Amino acid sequence: VAIIMDGNGRWAEQHGVARAKGHERGGKTVQRVIDLCGEKGIGWLTLYAFSTENWGRSKIEVTYLMNMLSKYLRERLPEMMEKNVRLHAIGELHMLPKSCREQLEKSIAATRENTGVNVVLALSYGSRQEITAAARQLARKVQKGEITPDDITPELLGAHLYTADMPDPDLLIRTSGEMRISNYLLWQISYAELWVTDVLWPDFGREELEAALLSYRGRQRRFGKR
Ligand code: IPE
Ligand code: IPE
Ligand code: MG
Repeated sequence: VAIIMDGNGRWAEQHGVARAKGHERGGKTVQRVIDLCGEKGIGWLTLYAFSTENWGRSKIEVTYLMNMLSKYLRERLPEMMEKNVRLHAIGELHMLPKSCREQLEKSIAATRENTGVNVVLALSYGSRQEITAAARQLARKVQKGEITPDDITPELLGAHLYTADMPDPDLLIRTSGEMRISNYLLWQISYAELWVTDVLWPDFGREELEAALLSYRGRQRRFGKR
């Protein structure tokens, strides 16, 4: 399952509080959804936490989100260990502030042997940037004579994305009603089922996840066949 966690700002607006409060509540939802995925036996949960384009927000908001990320990772590590969660991250991670990067590396290393839900945080992530980086790596390999242009297949390109070794999402959920992808996993969601709810991310919970899974179960996936 992949999720575009949207609507923290609108939640804050609706409640007459600062955007930061919305993000804080959104952080609580993350824990709730990880727990639910564990309970439901979902193997991989990929969460869009910060996009390449989100760097364009105000400095105050970006700083708040980065601090929240470090704090979240630090505080939740014991719980992740206890719940057997394995953490991964995708995106231009070198763009993150040093404290975030270090805490992220620490949490990823600490949870490496865990065998429960694989939680993938998409941070400073943009799908076009990811595909471009893969194209660049392949071009270098051709230049060095390691491969020829004809060796480039969808599988080889996929193996050069941040998500190499991760399964493609079967279900993409977006909260707060927007019918768009916002530069998320463009390659990987080729055949994902889509589910959008008007519920804002801080309000997302069991009921919404179960509704999404129920809808998914009722779909007939044809993959272009009949
Ligand atoms: C999602 O909530 C969180 C991030 C993008 C970091 P938003 O902050 O985009 O909330 P809205 O879309 O303004 O309601
Ligand atoms: C997508 O939400 C990015 C994340 C959830 C991290 P945005 O709020 O940034 O997307 P747009 O601006 O509505 O497309
Ligand atoms: Mg938004």
